[in-house]
Amino acid sequence: MGLQLEQGSEIKSWKEVQLLYSSALKQIATKIEILNDEFQHVHLYNPIEHVKKRIKTSESIVKKLKSHGYEPTIENMVKYVNDIAGIRVICSFTTDIYMIADMISKQSDIKVVAVKDYIMHPKSSGYRSYHMVVMIPVYLSDRIVETKVELQIRTVAMDFWASLEHKIQYKFEGNAPGHINTELMECARMVSELDDRMRKLNEEIEAIRAEEAAETEDL
Ligand code: GTP
Ligand code: MG
Repeated sequence: MGLQLEQGSEIKSWKEVQLLYSSALKQIATKIEILNDEFQHVHLYNPIEHVKKRIKTSESIVKKLKSHGYEPTIENMVKYVNDIAGIRVICSFTTDIYMIADMISKQSDIKVVAVKDYIMHPKSSGYRSYHMVVMIPVYLSDRIVETKVELQIRTVAMDFWASLEHKIQYKFEGNAPGHINTELMECARMVSELDDRMRKLNEEIEAIRAEEAAETEDL
């Protein structure tokens, strides 16, 4: 008989949670690495600058469950916390973000559970990033468990902004003075413009490269 597929209802302990989610995270990270390597091979450039991954601490999972009014049980963790396993993919250009999101979505063992496009629709803070929650099967000795991973895909510039903004919100516990929030919004606008201009510049360079390659072929 084959392995039984389940949605995580059989997970009993925090140790099992850690094992499952860190396995799921490794698999997604490998998929991202393969896409990057293949891209380098075919198109001669790396769309990905770097990747960060983390497992949420039990303290922070419990805090999140409580803040949403749920009992801090293993069952509720698996059911309600989408970011136990989190991976952040940092790209050069906004176009790379959509390309990576698309390539990940098309993989047959991945199910996209949710998408939040904070690039098309930035948050009121000015935050921009592309978020996906996906499910990936983790193969254990006696069963397969569909496990959730949160992906955040953003440019280097978006990441720079988000890091500073996060630091500021942390410092002021979410109540930063008005002029700081205004300045952050202005920086977010500049980051968005910078991303746009860098993308256009890159496209121009790519077009020249393609033209030159075509000319060499004609000789
Ligand atoms: P949680 O914050 O995890 O409860 O998420 P949510 O269910 O509201 O989902 P969302 O996709 O909006 O946010 C998930 C994650 O994105 C957060 O945990 C942060 O890492 C990041 N994020 C969202 N909004 C902001 C923001 O305004 N500033 C920064 N720096 N990061 C943000
Ligand atoms: Mg989170």
